[in-house]
Amino acid sequence: MALVLGIESSCDETAAALVDGERRILAQRIASQEEAHAPYGGVVPEIAARAHAERLAPLIEGTLADARLTLADCDAIAATAGPGLIGGVIVGLVTAKALAMASDKPLIAINHLEGHALSPRLADPELDFPYALLLVSGGHCQILRVSGVGQYQRLATTIDDALGEAFDKTAKILGLGYPGGPAVEALARHGDPQAVPLPRPLMRSKDPHFSFAGLKSAVLRAHDSGQYSHADIAASFQQAAIECIADRLTRALEKMDEVTALVVAGGVAANQRVRASLEVLAAGRGLRFVAPPLALCTDNAAMIAWAGIERLGQAGFVADPLDTVARPRWPLDPDAEPARGAGVKA
Ligand code: KG4
Ligand code: ZN
Repeated sequence: MALVLGIESSCDETAAALVDGERRILAQRIASQEEAHAPYGGVVPEIAARAHAERLAPLIEGTLADARLTLADCDAIAATAGPGLIGGVIVGLVTAKALAMASDKPLIAINHLEGHALSPRLADPELDFPYALLLVSGGHCQILRVSGVGQYQRLATTIDDALGEAFDKTAKILGLGYPGGPAVEALARHGDPQAVPLPRPLMRSKDPHFSFAGLKSAVLRAHDSGQYSHADIAASFQQAAIECIADRLTRALEKMDEVTALVVAGGVAANQRVRASLEVLAAGRGLRFVAPPLALCTDNAAMIAWAGIERLGQAGFVADPLDTVARPRWPLDPDAEPARGAGVKA
């Protein structure tokens, strides 16, 4: 049975995991850099790269020791090769190359988004292709049709901010610190979601793309007006964001046939109100709703190892060459049309 070592270092988590073909996570270690970035209100790429470089090797050693395994027991080394903060991606990929070379095992370069897209199948053996995926984190905001390993159709992306980024910026405006999503959710419980009139950007527009920059600016104006409590602003922001997601997903699902499940992944999947609204939306369309455990939704190495397992299991598998380059941008669906008015985010 296949056993893969996975490495993740594309943002602010340094992580390693060992996953086997029976969906067992034999060991995993994750070192968060939250504290290092907190004073700056967001991830600082240079600090992140340095932290990955310092922590990754001992973290991998520890992960192997936890499972009482060595590299010789692994069938492949899988590492995130992009998209992400390039310094961190390089650290992970170079480490994986060195380990692959030293142990004479195949290297598998994983697209971080593919890790997220396939992670629900690690948690849920019943989840078959094709399924609809809402990927909402600090860096990504996409709707994908996942048709098979390596088969991803991107139906929507954001033309400006990712949803988690909008939560983080709202938290900053309200003085709640970083990362802001959980703090906004907690404060929103004490507020009135209808108190502050806020826009729902792109609501009912034909294409299912997202936009959150206008919502964030409206939050700033509401805050600066001094008319509303912080709790009411948090609750109204969250409500507006949830209505946008539901509307955009409804539009995207019209363009997807044969899917049997709606799956959510990414850090924002931690939000209970977001989950509840997606569950209702899925039920209304006769779809299963799948939300993997939180540790698999946020950035982790088990999803990278699992994507490696899925790739290994494909007919005609070929290892990636040792001169594979790290990619700051790497669209999962290279054929997807760019969203009109979109900035540079993939
Ligand atoms: O997937 P993730 O750990 O990292 C990447 O960005 O790839 O996602 C982190 C994002 C942050 O923007 C954070 O504020 C948001 O997910 N987040 C939440 C919640 N927990 C985390 N947003 C809303 N509500 C939450 N409970
Ligand atoms: Zn991610």
